[in-house]
Amino acid sequence: MNKNILKDSYNKHFNNTGLSDGFYSAPGKVNLIGEHTDYNDGFVLPIAIDKKIYAYLQLRDDNKINLYSIDFDLSFETTTEKLKYNEENNWSNYIIGVVSELKKEGYNPKGFNMVFTGDLPIGAGLSSSAALEVLTTFGLDDLNNFKIDSFKKAVIAQKSENNFVGVNCGIMDQYISVFGEKDKALLIDCESHEHEEVPFKDEDYQFLIIDSKIKRGLIDSKYNKRRKQCNNVVKFFKENVGEEVETLRDVNINELFRYENKLKDLDYKRATHVLTENRRALKFSEHLEQNEYSKAGSLMYASHLSLKDEFEVSTSELDFLVEKAMELKGVLGAKMTGAGFGGCTVNLIKNENKEQIIENLKESYLNEYDMEPDFYLTRPVNGAGKF
Ligand code: GLA
Repeated sequence: MNKNILKDSYNKHFNNTGLSDGFYSAPGKVNLIGEHTDYNDGFVLPIAIDKKIYAYLQLRDDNKINLYSIDFDLSFETTTEKLKYNEENNWSNYIIGVVSELKKEGYNPKGFNMVFTGDLPIGAGLSSSAALEVLTTFGLDDLNNFKIDSFKKAVIAQKSENNFVGVNCGIMDQYISVFGEKDKALLIDCESHEHEEVPFKDEDYQFLIIDSKIKRGLIDSKYNKRRKQCNNVVKFFKENVGEEVETLRDVNINELFRYENKLKDLDYKRATHVLTENRRALKFSEHLEQNEYSKAGSLMYASHLSLKDEFEVSTSELDFLVEKAMELKGVLGAKMTGAGFGGCTVNLIKNENKEQIIENLKESYLNEYDMEPDFYLTRPVNGAGKF
């Protein structure tokens, strides 16, 4: 990113206050496997991607917050004392939410000016909202000299999404945007909040993200419904099997199978997905580590089928992209990624076949749905920071 783009825009919209300033960036993510497991204290395996949000921030000597989005060409103004959800400028909530969460945690950020831009598609399931939250947390932490530790930064960003934006997401998106590592996927244990680095080093392979261009409609209510169904199973086990069951992580898969008849059909299906998905995420990491890419790829496909049939969060467009991809030479695995109900698929492919794969899928998707998907070839990059 050319810093001049940010600086020129800043000079056009704001005055230099002469106070502390800095350039910050935060990446989006794609999850390779472990879907809808984070809020069930399970395992996820995301990578940070080289699609990011970039910002320039400068402190002010009053309590005003002045924001400018280069991509939307929109401004927003408020103060550190007036932190209200704004319907009209939805984008501003991801920034103001962080200020609100910082204050709840006892930090007192000074007023600031901020301009930002990005190359991360919005609403495609690649975590543009988490990137903006994480970036804001990094910038305000650094400029105010709070010295918040990395995990807490991820939690502040997540809580701002939960409490201010009103989306009850898990920790994955913000965590990977903070901790992402070049050439590594992170196997995150969402119970202990620790991660293991899983190297993805073979230059002959790559991840191809395909955006179905179906915007994720009504996502919050459907997402929350899935969370509730998972919690119903936890409740059942807590009441009937053992007090110590706090999350689906504490439920043994064979026990789940044993109680099939006692659980509501949909609740049972949702929990089956989560528990089998945890196993797949662990196995997938082992295969990736051993460079066993075709075995890893089969697990991605199994994950997709489970998301489609048991968790029921796929769409016909995502299914189409996955099915077609799996028929092509050089595709080792494919699945929908993120929350679902639209958004993207992620594919593990052989580099040498990338052109044919993209051409082929572009054409078949166009024939079927009368629109072209977007394609992003990516490898894992580092998490948020100064640039
Ligand atoms: C969204 C949420 C994540 C996670 C995924 C599903 O991306 O933000 O926390 O739950 O869905 O794996």
